[in-house]
Formats: sequence, structure tokens, C-alpha cells
Amino acid sequence: MPIDIERARRETPGCETTLHFNNAGAALMPDAVLDATIGHLRREAEIGGYLAENRAAAQIDGMYCSAARLINCRPDEIAFVENATRAWDMAFYALDFKPGDRILTATAEYASNYIAYLQVAAKTGAVVEAIANDETGQLSVAALEDAIDDRVKLISVTHVPTNGGLVNPAAAIGRVARAAGVPFLLDACQSVGQLPIDVEEIGCDMLSATGRKYLRGPRGTGFLYVRRAMLDRLEPPFLDLRAATWVAPDRFEMRDDARRFENWESYVAGRVGLGVAIDYALGWGLADIRDRIYALADALRERLEALPGVTVHDTGAERCGIVSFAIDGVEAAEAERRLVAQGINAASSSVFSTRLDMEARSVPTLMRASVHYYNTDDEIERFCAAVDALR
Ligand SMILES: Cc1ncc(COP(=O)(O)O)c(C=O)c1O
Repeated sequence: MPIDIERARRETPGCETTLHFNNAGAALMPDAVLDATIGHLRREAEIGGYLAENRAAAQIDGMYCSAARLINCRPDEIAFVENATRAWDMAFYALDFKPGDRILTATAEYASNYIAYLQVAAKTGAVVEAIANDETGQLSVAALEDAIDDRVKLISVTHVPTNGGLVNPAAAIGRVARAAGVPFLLDACQSVGQLPIDVEEIGCDMLSATGRKYLRGPRGTGFLYVRRAMLDRLEPPFLDLRAATWVAPDRFEMRDDARRFENWESYVAGRVGLGVAIDYALGWGLADIRDRIYALADALRERLEALPGVTVHDTGAERCGIVSFAIDGVEAAEAERRLVAQGINAASSSVFSTRLDMEARSVPTLMRASVHYYNTDDEIERFCAAVDALR
């Protein structure tokens, strides 16, 4: 069913004042998320954080069920983590790499992930290899298949990169991983909440997500999915008394579910808010959200392409809600500053977030406009007029 845009905007207070095309940075929270998060903080102030957490037990439990429903897994395969990077780290650093082990990744890999590969490679003697793209600009599944041998220890790919509309072919990558019996870690930070994600269909064993982007949750929230069958092949890099129990002076036992990747102390109001954000997204329907976002992004690309001096840089066979472009004679960071000064939120990306991809395409910086379902055609017109006036 098409999204009821008027309702979506009515329920999003930020729409009244801001033209927000930075949804891949942090989307605007709807009232329901805002009310739940602030409501919990207020309760903490009134009765103390511990009691407030006890009283919210059902909502907190509900967050795991909602996340499980969102990506088609079991609630005990979900860990709440404070952001996507730490969620991803908890899975990646839990693997035991040996000299010569190969980590296969994508060209459009996110900087924090790549820094972790380099760190682990330097420490362990593992090697990291970025698989080439195909002619559309997405990871080449054929090249990935060709790269498989018995030294491949991990396939780890960013689904939607930070700097553009590319959607890497996660399910096809998953089929290669499964056929080879290699664990598959998917960075779904920018795709969760934007398009339907089904871990069974994709075939990933671990997946990281954040709350504040397309899910429209509060900042400081995220989650990690770990497939049950994978749990005992991972040694969490940190354990505390939530992740494990000190059962004898010289012995501990780890939890037997994905919460062994969590911390005891955490942002409880954020957990509550994240659960509401996921339910809110499920209420609209992820396929409808994706259809609306993709249609808006296509319209934005078309309008930007028509502007003199503007070049759209998105690649891939499937293109999502992130629109990347360059403006002749106007540096991206400068364009971002001037747009924000007019109440128009967009972002810039640099080589520091996706070095391999930006270098391969010789684009040191790009503008990034990322739309959500509550954006409108009128906002696209206003945005393009403002971009046109920058030159
Ligand atoms: C592709 C990708 N992965 C991971 C992250 C990190 O997410 P977080 O800031 O929630 O740790 C980002 C953030 O922009 C990203 O774009």
C-alpha cells in the first residue's frame, strides 16, 4: 500500500522546519519514538534508572522480538549494541584469524571496517582482499566465486556504502558464502530500515545495524544479529557479567544467546525508543518504504542530472535512497555548509570514509543527499533549486 505521506509528515515534527535529505546520517524521529524515549528518561528521573528499567521490561524484551521480526531471525539471535560499528566489531573481532587466512571484502567498504581488517591483518598475518566490482559498479559475484579457496576465513561486505546509492548484491554473495561454507558478515547499517532485510534470504551469519539512520530511532542505538549456528564459533572480544556468569572462582559461563555480545550498562531509553522505531517501520511495511524511497531518489537523480554543472555519481544495478553528486567549482564540504545555512540538510563524503571506492573512481569528495519516505517531490524541487544556486 502506498505510504500516507501526510500522516508520515504529521507524525514527524522535524518536517515542519527542516528540509532533511540527510537520512543516511540520522533520520528524523517520529513522535512515537520521541515520546517513548523521552518518556523513559522522565521515568528514570522520577523513580531511578534501575526501577525504570524493571518497569520497562516488557518493552525492552519487545525490542528483541521487533528486531527479529524486522530481519527474520529469532529474538535470541539479537544483541543490543550502542551503534553499528561496535555491533560489527563484536562479531569481527570474535573470529580467530591465523597467518594466511583471507578476508574477502568489497571495494565500497566502510572505513571503520577496513581499519579493523588492517589492524587484525597486521596482528595475525591474515590478508584482506577487496573483490573487484562488475560493470555496474556492484561487487562482482563472479569475481567473488573465483576468489574462493580453503584459506578464505570470512566474507565481509557493506550492503549499502556510506557514500552513494549502490546496493551490493547481498543474497548472491550469501549464496557464494554458503556454498563455500564461509561465514558472511553483512554491514547493513545503511540498508536496515530502508529496504526489506531477510537474513534467511540473504544467508548472512552476522549482521550489524544502527538505530538512528533509516530506522529513525534514537542516536546511540544499534544491534547485532548472530546466527545460532555461528554462536559457538565466535569468542566475544569482551565479556562482562551480563555476557557471562562467574560460576566458580576460576570459571565463568557465557550466555548461550547473542546477548553474550552485549554490555551490562546501556542506554535503556534508547532500547525502548529503538523498539518503537522498529515497530513503526514495520507498521508502514518495509517494501512500501523501499518503493517510496527508491522512487524519490530516482526523481532526485533525474532532476540533479538536468542541472548544468552537476554530475550524479551513483553506481550499481540497484540504487537506493542515497544520491551522490558533484557540483562543478563547488567543493562538497562547502556545498554542505551553504545548504545547511538555508535549513537544507545534506552531507558530504570524503575519501576517509570509503577510500578504495573513492580512489578507484577518482572522486575525492561527493555530496550526499539521502531521502526517506516522508520527503516530498516539492522538497526535491526546492533542494535542486538551492543546489543550482550554489554555482
Ligand atoms: C556503511 C556504514 N557502516 C557502518 C557505519 C557506522 O555506523 P555507526 O555510526 O552507527 O557506528 C556507517 C556510518 O555512517 C556506515 O555508513
